Amino acid sequence: MSRDLHGKSIIVTGASSGIGAATAIACAKAGMPVVLNARREEKLRKVADQVERHGVKAALVVGDVTDEGISERLLNAAEDELGGLYAVFSNAGYGSELPVLKTDLDQVRAMFEVNFFASFELVHLAARRLVEDSKPGHLLMCSSCLAKFTMPWHGVYSATKAAQNHLCLSMRAELAADGIEVSSVHPVTTATEFFEQSARRSGKGNDSDVLDHVPKWLIQKPEHVAAAVVKCLRRPKPEVWTSMLTRTFAAMATFSPRLLDMVMRRQLRRMKTG
Ligand SMILES: NC(=O)c1ccc[n+]([C@@H]2O[C@H](COP(=O)([O-])OP(=O)(O)OC[C@H]3O[C@@H](n4cnc5c(N)ncnc54)[C@H](OP(=O)(O)O)[C@@H]3O)[C@@H](O)[C@H]2O)c1
Repeated sequence: MSRDLHGKSIIVTGASSGIGAATAIACAKAGMPVVLNARREEKLRKVADQVERHGVKAALVVGDVTDEGISERLLNAAEDELGGLYAVFSNAGYGSELPVLKTDLDQVRAMFEVNFFASFELVHLAARRLVEDSKPGHLLMCSSCLAKFTMPWHGVYSATKAAQNHLCLSMRAELAADGIEVSSVHPVTTATEFFEQSARRSGKGNDSDVLDHVPKWLIQKPEHVAAAVVKCLRRPKPEVWTSMLTRTFAAMATFSPRLLDMVMRRQLRRMKTG
């Protein structure tokens, strides 16, 4: 049976652009009040305006997901300003485009802090509160298709996404008896600021060439991912995939690591020859 989302609040991190912004707006359209988080306040306010145009409240928590106490602030905003917590979409994250040998440990730690530890803290605290209050809820993490396989120069990023995926797998089983759903979201290449940010963090200026190596028909809009997230909120399922082809490839890559090696070597040759 489809769940009625009207009046059920959701916390969305990384809501100032891309998948997070689109999901916040799609949730608002479904009647969900939204707690919005990101670091860029001006962009966040514009998303809040769009959320409120759908007749639901938006609460803003501006800050870095790694800031001390921010997860508590997000949960308190849902409870104090929006009438209670129902769902979390832990989505804030970033990537890089660097060979493992050119990545230093500080960069790895910094990426895990944002993509994994901050995500862990938020869903962990949210789950505790829901269990303590004997309330149902739905926790979602924006992982990636790269949680299931990887590509050259995306090894560290994929590791953060695989970590999120495994956390969701375990939490889903552990929290089922408490009426709390846990889902991981596995977008494929999505046209957002993500690639520009990745290129910048990898010392390539603002020019990412990743999108040049992906067939245009495989590139999705953030609204497509957002619609799939709302569908999952209505009818909970373990994993959200927006591309059956990529999902099939992920299964094949698990079944045959040699096949994945072949694809990755081909990809690397292409990247090197531009
Ligand atoms: N685009 C893709 O192809 C793709 C594919 C698979 C998975 N994903 C995942 O989707 C999620 C969203 O990415 P996107 O594609 O929508 O990219 P995006 O447009 O760059 O959005 C990233 C969001 O995260 C926020 N953010 C980044 N670091 C943050 C921090 N330390 N604290 C708080 N907020 C932070 C950014 O806002 P501020 O800069 O304002 O803080 C922004 O709102 C990420 O987890 C990414 O790994 C993306």
